[in-house]
Amino acid sequence: LEGEPGEPLSAPLIVVSNRLPFVLTRNANGKLQRSHSAGGLVTALGPVVIDCGGLWIGWPGSHDVRPFDEIPEPDIPNSGLKSQQVKPVLVRQELFDSFYNGCCNGTFWPLFHSMPDRAVFSSETWKAYQEVNEEFALKTIDALRQVRARLLKEYNNPSDDSMPVPVVWIHDYQLMLAAAMIRQVAIEENLACKLGFFLHIPFPSWDIMRLFPWDDQILEGILACDLVGFHIEDYCTNFIECCQRRMGCRVDHANGNIEYDNRTVHVRALPIGIPFNQFQLLAIKAPRVMKDERVVLGVDRLDYTKGLVQRIKAFERLLECHPEHLGHVVLMQIAVPSRTDVKEYKALKEEIDQLVGRINGRFSTADWSPIRYIYGCISQDKLAAFYRDSAVALVTPLRDGMNLVAKEFVACQINENGVLILSPFAGAGGTMREALLVNPYEIDMVAETIHKALVMDVDERRHRMQLLRKRESSMDVDYWMDSFLREMDQVECAITGPPSLIPV
Ligand code: F6P
Repeated sequence: LEGEPGEPLSAPLIVVSNRLPFVLTRNANGKLQRSHSAGGLVTALGPVVIDCGGLWIGWPGSHDVRPFDEIPEPDIPNSGLKSQQVKPVLVRQELFDSFYNGCCNGTFWPLFHSMPDRAVFSSETWKAYQEVNEEFALKTIDALRQVRARLLKEYNNPSDDSMPVPVVWIHDYQLMLAAAMIRQVAIEENLACKLGFFLHIPFPSWDIMRLFPWDDQILEGILACDLVGFHIEDYCTNFIECCQRRMGCRVDHANGNIEYDNRTVHVRALPIGIPFNQFQLLAIKAPRVMKDERVVLGVDRLDYTKGLVQRIKAFERLLECHPEHLGHVVLMQIAVPSRTDVKEYKALKEEIDQLVGRINGRFSTADWSPIRYIYGCISQDKLAAFYRDSAVALVTPLRDGMNLVAKEFVACQINENGVLILSPFAGAGGTMREALLVNPYEIDMVAETIHKALVMDVDERRHRMQLLRKRESSMDVDYWMDSFLREMDQVECAITGPPSLIPV
């Protein structure tokens, strides 16, 4: 973690997320290697962490990594985090399963998506969640000590006002307790820092949140941060209301402030974007992969929140009500396998397999089938070509924090002639107003909206798409990250210890 000697360091950033920005796997010789991860978070935050000599803490995506293993350097020098910038969190597989499959995806995922009937409440998996959050917190404290030692070396004088304050940025519902533990130790050890949290999924209303038996501990965990970010205002309002009603906090809804533990917690709506230019470039370069047919495209992780069953039924209804599309239009549904160890996800896969089979059996002819269903991952190039060449993107989740597919489709629409159909129950539904918005539960209405999109005239399609592209290209993932870090800059550092107590 050497900065350029003599150069003032910008505030070092410590990112804490459930997954590291790459997966570690073993090659045939038993050596660890990095596999690329293409997420927007990695694209945006990776370079910032690299430049400020920061650190990234997370699970390496495999239980095959041991504490004594050396993390490999990136394949191309200077193309990723240096090995010393990565702190992998390693926990027993059984404990991790109980945390990830049990509490994160069996409890918080359905609960926070306002599907409480699917949520399982278990003191056993909750304990695993607490333990794993503690592991993440301990690694973060190590990182803070390391950064602190480096700053003291650089600045000589520990009371130098210009010494930057490290920023810890925790991500998502897997890590809602970590901040409380980090704050406590940081205070004890006088490790100056600012703590931030961003939730990538919805925050539920008080009525739903209160069903979780240990809701106060979750709220306490998030309130340990100085800045808390959500995608949209509705989620901020829900969180603030929960803090008011459950924790008795004084709140200022208008300014998004919560008084807690003699501090102000700043709550902000900061909608995430995508690496727009990167997707656009892929779309410019990607060769054509589809036949000459009109494609209605769906791209989702196979997840019950995405409304896949309702969507496929709506497409069936379209074919019933508008037979002129028979033989000409295809629903291409890409379902990316996800959380395959969780019972609910296995059951959903079965249901979709059967539904697609039934509809294809009903309508297929010798040279045309209505649904092309891909269960698997596809390359970024192909995805960009699908986005570019589809007539319609059908993004109809029942509930979704933001939904990046809607934004990726728009970024790849370089010819500006596709139509986006979007659910108002996705965070993106609040800002992407030029899309055709439709309630995914209203199957007849979804069918009619697909028809409307398919027959929309070219001028209207272009006009809507131009406006969508303009917004997404300016409010991209870098804009989101800058907004969060700028807000962080405004926040006062609540953890500052007297210099004499700082261990050198
Ligand atoms: O957007 C929510 C989220 O859980 C992210 O944290 C994660 O990157 C993504 O969905 C995929 O989920 P998982 O890490 O469980 O595969």
